[in-house]
Amino acid sequence: MKERLNELKQIALGELEAAIGSQRLSELRVKYLGKKGPLTEILRGMGTLSAEERPLIGQVANEVRQVIEEVLDAKQAELKREETNKRLESETIDVTLTGRHASIGAVHPLTQTIQEIEDIFVGMGYTVEEGPEVEQDYYNFEALNLPKDHPARDMQDSFYVTEEMLLRTHTSPVQVRTMERRKGEVPVKIICPGKVYRRDEDDATHSHQFMQVEGLVIDKGIRMSDLKGTLLQFAREMFGGDVNIRLRPSFFPFTEPSAEVDISCMMCGGSGCRTCKGSGWIEILGSGMVHPNVLRAGGYDPEVYSGFAFGMGPERIAMLKYGVDDIRHFYTNDLRFLGQFNRI
Ligand code: DAH
Repeated sequence: MKERLNELKQIALGELEAAIGSQRLSELRVKYLGKKGPLTEILRGMGTLSAEERPLIGQVANEVRQVIEEVLDAKQAELKREETNKRLESETIDVTLTGRHASIGAVHPLTQTIQEIEDIFVGMGYTVEEGPEVEQDYYNFEALNLPKDHPARDMQDSFYVTEEMLLRTHTSPVQVRTMERRKGEVPVKIICPGKVYRRDEDDATHSHQFMQVEGLVIDKGIRMSDLKGTLLQFAREMFGGDVNIRLRPSFFPFTEPSAEVDISCMMCGGSGCRTCKGSGWIEILGSGMVHPNVLRAGGYDPEVYSGFAFGMGPERIAMLKYGVDDIRHFYTNDLRFLGQFNRI
């Protein structure tokens, strides 16, 4: 029996030596140490041995079992080490490699400009209002002192949806809509950014759809000097602390008096250059004191209240600020253009 045990040990060790892979190792563990294995079988047969032989054989059997177990465990441990090493090698991270570029997009330059305008006016206590882009003739023209036969309607060729509905040609209709909503309360201090539409041929300075930001202030005792101070503050925050503004007499049906506002050229500081066409000044917006008829249309008594209003084009402001030479760049979605405004 002792020989059988030793023989078994030799065979087992031989097979273990040749074993490759953890699958084979578990097979061998079952084969030699399992319940149906030869060792168990030998131990079971010990009942037939004499009382002297039994402990001796028992000891040898245990030794054999132990040796096989140790070799199995050692092999298993080695295998695990090898697998870990292999994994570490294949999963090595080269921290010196440069990262992959993630394209994360950017806020559109026009949106950025509008946000900047909003921030400046919100900082002065204004709130931001909105109005519909498909507008009634009444709000777009009539209530703004532009009756049906008014020649100034020619200045704003429009897209009509029906006789009475059109795509708004400016953001000024929001003035009257806001006044109606406020029901005579003061102060009214709003700006309204939004899209407007005109039946214009698109070229470097015209677009059939563009943006405007409207402004309206109504209270008791609002004067032209309030308008001028507000717009000077705006211009300096937008274009830099050293710009100046000037008001030129103009005409808008919804304001009286009306003024066109220029800023001193931020390119040349006023001495004259290509951007300001040599004049030293650049027109940036239209403005004026709200016409009594418009106040009345919005439900405010012009004998008690007065106000100023202005309307500016963010495209024009962005073009001046960033040196963009064609308004169509804002609408053709060329990523080479848009990518330059990534402020992140
Ligand atoms: N609505 C005018 C336009 O589209 C701009 C404008 C001028 C708005 C004077 C105003 C204003 O509120 O007072 O040309």
